[in-house]
Amino acid sequence: MAQLWGGRFTKETDQLVYNFNASISFDKKFYRQDMEGSIAHVKMLGKQGILTERETEDLVKAVKDILHEVETGELTISHEYEDIHSFVEATLIDRLGDTGKKLHTGRSRNDQVALDMRLYTRQEVLAVDELLEEILQVLLKVMEEHVDTYMPGFTHLQKAQPVTLAHHLGAYFEMFKRDRGRMQDIYRRMDYCPLGSGALAGTTYDLDRYYTADLLGFAGPALNSMDGVSDRDYLIEFLSALSTVMMHLSRFSEEVIIWNSNEYQFVEIDDAYSTGSSIMPQKKNPDIAELVRGKTGRVYGALVSLLTTMKGIPLAYNKDMQEDKELAFDAMDTVKGCLALFTGMLSTMNFNKDRMEASAKNGFTNATDAADYLVNHGVPFRDAHGIVGQIVLYCIDKNIAIDDMSLDELKAISPVFEEDIFEAVSMETCVRKRLTIGAPGQEAMKKVIALEKEYLAQDWKNEIPDWEKSLMK
Ligand code: ARG
Repeated sequence: MAQLWGGRFTKETDQLVYNFNASISFDKKFYRQDMEGSIAHVKMLGKQGILTERETEDLVKAVKDILHEVETGELTISHEYEDIHSFVEATLIDRLGDTGKKLHTGRSRNDQVALDMRLYTRQEVLAVDELLEEILQVLLKVMEEHVDTYMPGFTHLQKAQPVTLAHHLGAYFEMFKRDRGRMQDIYRRMDYCPLGSGALAGTTYDLDRYYTADLLGFAGPALNSMDGVSDRDYLIEFLSALSTVMMHLSRFSEEVIIWNSNEYQFVEIDDAYSTGSSIMPQKKNPDIAELVRGKTGRVYGALVSLLTTMKGIPLAYNKDMQEDKELAFDAMDTVKGCLALFTGMLSTMNFNKDRMEASAKNGFTNATDAADYLVNHGVPFRDAHGIVGQIVLYCIDKNIAIDDMSLDELKAISPVFEEDIFEAVSMETCVRKRLTIGAPGQEAMKKVIALEKEYLAQDWKNEIPDWEKSLMK
């Protein structure tokens, strides 16, 4: 197969070298972005008088045709070409002859691939943002339904204090909200068009880079051509943000797996989202959650791989950078799949309110509140801590909860206790009285839910920050 760059070579490339070098098997993934970039480039060349009106029209139409045919399956992207750029150009030349040969005027594959990857990543950033928004919608709905569903809150996986399911899930709401913030942030920072950077030093043609940037929906052109062709920061940032999304999903998965266990039975995963065992008929396994937890590793892997690839690369483009694609594509597809499946699992999951409440009622989750009761009656906190410690020991011995003790039993340990202790350490009181913002008390929780609703009603894409406006001039 003749290469775009065959001119100065006298020998055919060794087949193994050719295979090693070729990227079409994976860069065909951004065929659409490649052709959209070409259309914008040709339009700009036409506007600048570098191509005639006729040439511009013919090229734009032919690229659109090729795109359409690839999309409908009429035209297959042949792996005989080195990369997607060569495939498109060769097909154009095939159809338009000399006009086709003008497509690459004032462009290098270096700025072309930089553009394609950026356009593709931008689309994925928005797709992940949308999936994050969906999981937030589901979370908010479950939170609204479970403001009064009590459950134990844990530290060290030991029961600590009672919370509510709404409150527990609200923690994940915050995490995914921050993940969206990172998507928005990355989107803004990557919003500059590398096309027109040429191989590394711009071109001698009178390109209108502002126009190309505008046609492709960027805030403006990348302001340094060497950086334009060799910047992959946005991709590293995205992989880092995706790794954080996976870390959140993995923690959540771990909890779902624990909650779904025979011992806990806090939740039941819907049949549609569980799997059975080939040998043990009783099994209903949380495979989706386990897979999400497991796939976290490959997303981290993509981040570390690209960081490592980029660390030794001198300016500007070097072929190492072709390694930015396969693992990054895999990470993007993995995260999108995990988010979609986890959201489906969450929205169909059954929360076992009674089991959660029963669990919150034992395990001394009200011990802190019993100590606070004593403090409110004049006992110094450290002494109160000691008294309640004795109570807990007593209860463990008798296999009862603090609430099950009689007033006489309590008074035998501290005379400060009165009849109102039972109300003070009831699970409902323990939660209800935690009403500072961010706490599980119903009053606080409802305020937070209202704020989250307001947050979800906004569309960040409509708000261009001031710093970006100043760069758009
Ligand atoms: N396949 C290459 C990549 O993905 C495209 C750029 C090739 N440029 C070059 N000068 N060889 O990075």
